[in-house]
Amino acid sequence: MPDLETAHEWGIRVIERDSALYPAMLDLRKSILRKPLGLDLSATDLAAETEQIHFVLVNRETENVEGCAMLIEKSGGVAKVRQVAISESIRAKGLGQFLMKGVEETARVRHFSEIQLHARDSAVPFYLHIGYEIVGDSFIEVGLPHFLMRKKIA
Ligand SMILES: CC(C)(COP(=O)(O)OP(=O)(O)OC[C@H]1O[C@@H](n2cnc3c(N)ncnc32)[C@H](O)[C@@H]1OP(=O)(O)O)[C@@H](O)C(=O)NCCC(=O)NCCS
Repeated sequence: MPDLETAHEWGIRVIERDSALYPAMLDLRKSILRKPLGLDLSATDLAAETEQIHFVLVNRETENVEGCAMLIEKSGGVAKVRQVAISESIRAKGLGQFLMKGVEETARVRHFSEIQLHARDSAVPFYLHIGYEIVGDSFIEVGLPHFLMRKKIA
């Protein structure tokens, strides 16, 4: 699968669940987004993801998966982004922004006009920085305060 975009040594790829990169994506999701909360991803969670688009940020030299995101169709031209994570060792280098740009471009090509997501309060500044706005009050998800955020992409 060709890279969607490239920046230096980094590429963004859309992968299927039978891809050789899928286990590494799962490891990243578990280690960054679940284990710190004492949670895991169950077979039931994963079985519900068949229709979701899986993105990975890959180091093109090593083929290591260092970032991920997922995109799922809601209704009315809205897509939801979830499971956004960047490896701790490469944060604050613009790669989260780069990954989200690739996700948004894919959503635009697929004729979605808006992206929504549930942002952990710790990630809200990141999403504000890349053009998302908060909609409504905070709510609890996976035990953490979250905000609904959205961005028009068309
Ligand atoms: C949130 C996350 C994906 C951001 O990835 P990243 O690669 O570190 O972000 P970037 O380097 O692309 O940051 C883009 C911009 O947002 C800003 N930003 C990023 N995180 C920020 C924060 N916590 N507070 C304020 N600004 C922030 C950066 O300063 C940067 O601005 P710049 O372009 O002027 O330098 C990453 O920190 C992460 O994986 N966190 C843990 C998992 C998580 O919380 N995921 C989100 C679940 S909702």
